Formats: sequence, structure tokens, C-alpha cells
Amino acid sequence: MKAKEALRKLEPYRGELSRRELAQKLGLREEDVLPLHANENLFVERDWVKEKIREALERIDPRIYPDPQNIEVRRALARHYGVKEEEVVMGSGTDELIDGISKCFIEPNEQVVTLDPTFQVYGISALLYGGRCKSFLLREDFSIDVPRLLNELDRTVKLLYVCSPNNPTGNQHEKEIIEEILKNVDCIVVLDEAYVEFADYSLSKLIHTYDNLIVLRTFSKGFGIAGLRFGVALSNQEIADLMRRALQPYNVSNVAQYTALTLLENWSYLAEKIKEIKKQREKLQEELSEIGGIRVYPSKANFILVRVVKKGVSAEDVQKNLMKKGILVRDRSKLPLLENCLRITVCPSHMSERLTSALKEALS
Ligand SMILES: Cc1ncc(COP(=O)(O)O)c(C=O)c1O
Repeated sequence: MKAKEALRKLEPYRGELSRRELAQKLGLREEDVLPLHANENLFVERDWVKEKIREALERIDPRIYPDPQNIEVRRALARHYGVKEEEVVMGSGTDELIDGISKCFIEPNEQVVTLDPTFQVYGISALLYGGRCKSFLLREDFSIDVPRLLNELDRTVKLLYVCSPNNPTGNQHEKEIIEEILKNVDCIVVLDEAYVEFADYSLSKLIHTYDNLIVLRTFSKGFGIAGLRFGVALSNQEIADLMRRALQPYNVSNVAQYTALTLLENWSYLAEKIKEIKKQREKLQEELSEIGGIRVYPSKANFILVRVVKKGVSAEDVQKNLMKKGILVRDRSKLPLLENCLRITVCPSHMSERLTSALKEALS
């Protein structure tokens, strides 16, 4: 079978074992496995979200195709993000929008630049559309060396991805840095703000200043509906129209659209949960720092990056040890600059107690 060459070189994008798989392996109930590997929102109550989905179901007719231009939903999104309806494109998760961006902009052999270590889907998507992916390394402190970056970007670069707060390092790039990049490049800049609800500021409104900017937002993190798949791209109208042409005509289900709308109408509950996550993040950072044998990095997201520094112990050892106790975390050691690093989702304190005690044992 002659599949695309790019596909042969790719490893399937797959996290660690799923919660269900690990539960089966250990003979546990699924809810006894701690899913701290995928940066989901573990603070929003499951029953509350299910109730909102039920409310959304009352608003739809599942026999009818969804409206990809749904003005009611786009208007609510526009209001929430402080932009205009025509600047909003909905996707089945941000992942689908990243794919849509590749479809819109990448011609064979054109370059896409990623600031590594970062979210790997950008590079995978570019390769699948025949693009070439160039990795630009962040500094040791995960900041961007802008003069060096600008020096390296040439005319063959079509897209530059900036993730802020960055997954998996957790730092948010400063506004001045992002603007310096935007002012000095010709290519499209995709600013992925998947985790921005947990950070200090959003730069989404910069789409009104820079024509070459696309901002990505998701409902998988702050809004807590990773399982329903809902993401948003914000950009000027010209780019938004192109994106709409490239995406599948019925890309976002009725259920996802109206759940998103219902959640926007209940933003105050979610805002409270986000506050809790930020508070718990600070507490967990302190607790992890006290364990010894790991270095804890500051975070503006809903996850924390840690480096195993204890002699003779690797991140993989620690990850496996935690897994035996029913705790999933993500090993990011294979990414550049992240030797022996694990990424851990911020979780409520009844879960973090189990995490910290298992970590202490693994590092003792
Ligand atoms: C930086 C970043 N962007 C995008 C995504 C994908 O989000 P979605 O669930 O909206 O596809 C993720 C998922 O973890 C992410 O970490």
C-alpha cells in the first residue's frame, strides 16, 4: 500500500495508556485512576457539565445537520472573546483548526516553524500537508530569543506557531515579545492560547492590530469539555473566510455548539473553577518543591512541568512507578531541553495528596 511518505515517518499521536486501559490493567475502577497526563479540567464537576449538555440537547434537533456559521453561537463567542462574529471560526477542537490552518496555507515544501519544546500537533499537521517543519529552540528558561528567531526566519517560512502559555513548559510569553515578532515577520503567526484562561493576560484582541495573526482558543481546558471537541480560531475576516472554506461543512456537532453556548451563559461557574485551579496550582507547586529530587518549573497553565534531578532515577522510572499506583502523568523527556521531565495536570487536593505521596515514594 502506497501511503503518504510523511505518514510513514510519523509515530501515531498517542498519550500514555488511557484511564480505562490502566484501570483494566490494574483491576481498578476507572474513577480510581488519576488522569494527570492530558491537562483536562478536573475541577469542573462531571454532573454539572452533564446537566449543561442535557440543557443543550433541549435546544437542538439532532436529525438536522449543524449550522457551521451558527450566528447565535458565534455571536456569544465573539462577545466572550471581545471580537466580531465574522472573526470567529468554530472547530471540532483546536486540533481540527490546526489541521484547517495547514490545509489553508501550506503548499508542498513550505516551511512551518515551531518554538520547541512545544505542542507536537503543529509539526505533525504541517508534515501531513507536505510542509517542512523547522524547529527553533527556546532558551533554557523557555523564553524566545527574538533577534535569533528573526534572523532565522526567511521567505520560505509560511507559518510560525507560538504557544502561550506553552505546552509543556507552562510559561506565558510576554506581550512585548509576541508583538515584536508580529511586527517583524511576513508569515502567518498562529498564537495558541489553549491555556490562557489560567494565565495573566490574553492577546486575542491583537487580531485587530495584526493582519497576519490567528489566535486559537479551546473549550477543552478552561471550559472542561475536552470530550465534546470544541475549539475556536480568531483572526481577521479574510483569514476566517479562508478557514471556513477549508474546513468540513458540518465540522462541529449541534451538541458541541449548543453546549459551548450554554457554558458561555454559565461563565461565572467556570470562572470560579478557574480561580480554584490557579490557587491549587500554587499550592501544588509548593508541595512538589518540598518533595526533593525534583525541580518544579513555574506555570501559568493547568499543568506543572517537573524535572527529576535525583541521581540514578529517570522520569520514566518515576512515571512507571506512579502508573503502578494508578496515576497517569506525561513523560516529556524525549522533547528537546526536557530531559527527565514530567508534565502533571493540576488536580483537586484529594487527588494531589495521592500524587505527592506516590511521588515521595518513587523518589525515596
Ligand atoms: C497547546 C495546545 N493546543 C491545542 C490543544 C488541542 O486542544 P483541543 O482539545 O481543543 O483540540 C492542546 C491539547 O492538549 C494543547 O495542549
